[in-house]
Amino acid sequence: MSRLSVNVDHVATIRQARLSNEPDPVLAAGMAEVAGADGITVHLREDRRHIQDRDLIILRKTVKTRLNLEMAATKEMLQIAIEIKPDMVTLVPEKRQELTTEGGLDVKNHAEPLKKFVTHLRDAGIPANLFIDPAPEAVKASHRIGSDGVEIHTGRYADAARADKERELKRVYDSALLSKRLGLKTHAGHGLDYGNIKAVAAFREIDEFAIGYSIVTRSVYTGISEAVREMKRLIVEGRQNGF
Ligand code: PXP
Repeated sequence: MSRLSVNVDHVATIRQARLSNEPDPVLAAGMAEVAGADGITVHLREDRRHIQDRDLIILRKTVKTRLNLEMAATKEMLQIAIEIKPDMVTLVPEKRQELTTEGGLDVKNHAEPLKKFVTHLRDAGIPANLFIDPAPEAVKASHRIGSDGVEIHTGRYADAARADKERELKRVYDSALLSKRLGLKTHAGHGLDYGNIKAVAAFREIDEFAIGYSIVTRSVYTGISEAVREMKRLIVEGRQNGF
């Protein structure tokens, strides 16, 4: 069964709106785990717009499942990762102006620096996934540089108009299939919500989903426990309808 890693960044977004102490992503992470999350994901951005260093330090001590740190491939982040030792890192491209991570890494054209980065992390005992667009070249390039796995960007599938959904879904599937065949850990995420998760959860090739925004927004109405339980239920249902 695919795992669910709950991204609690946007709990911190609400807190940062008032630069206060509430709501606390650490508490939200604990509640998500109790409700069935298989992991917790946070993105420590260069501009610290949501998750703060303090969150990461405490989460490292409190997360009982698996802590996935999303980060840009910078010197500062490498130092933090090596110090904190998350259970895994997902390398993402990062631009200050973007609202959220907009596209996957250009692995082919940044193969050498990314390879060095992945090697540094591996030497520190931290497995690294690369966040990539759903494209065979990106999967192959990730494999070539020796990454432990990939996270396939599902944003285009999520945003696609009805007429384009199947095509975008197939791109995700083809990339997941190739990734598995190459022996990579295969994760997927971005833009997944209660309406679009079942179709991707049908793919047994995907080991884990990273989902944040839809769970945090749902939790405003239902509380985070119910929001996580419902997402887990849909992942199980999607898998059962799968092939
Ligand atoms: N995976 C990656 C690499 C991301 O950058 C994000 C957004 O922080 C997510 C997954 C989660 O996306 P969403 O918040 O749209 O569920």
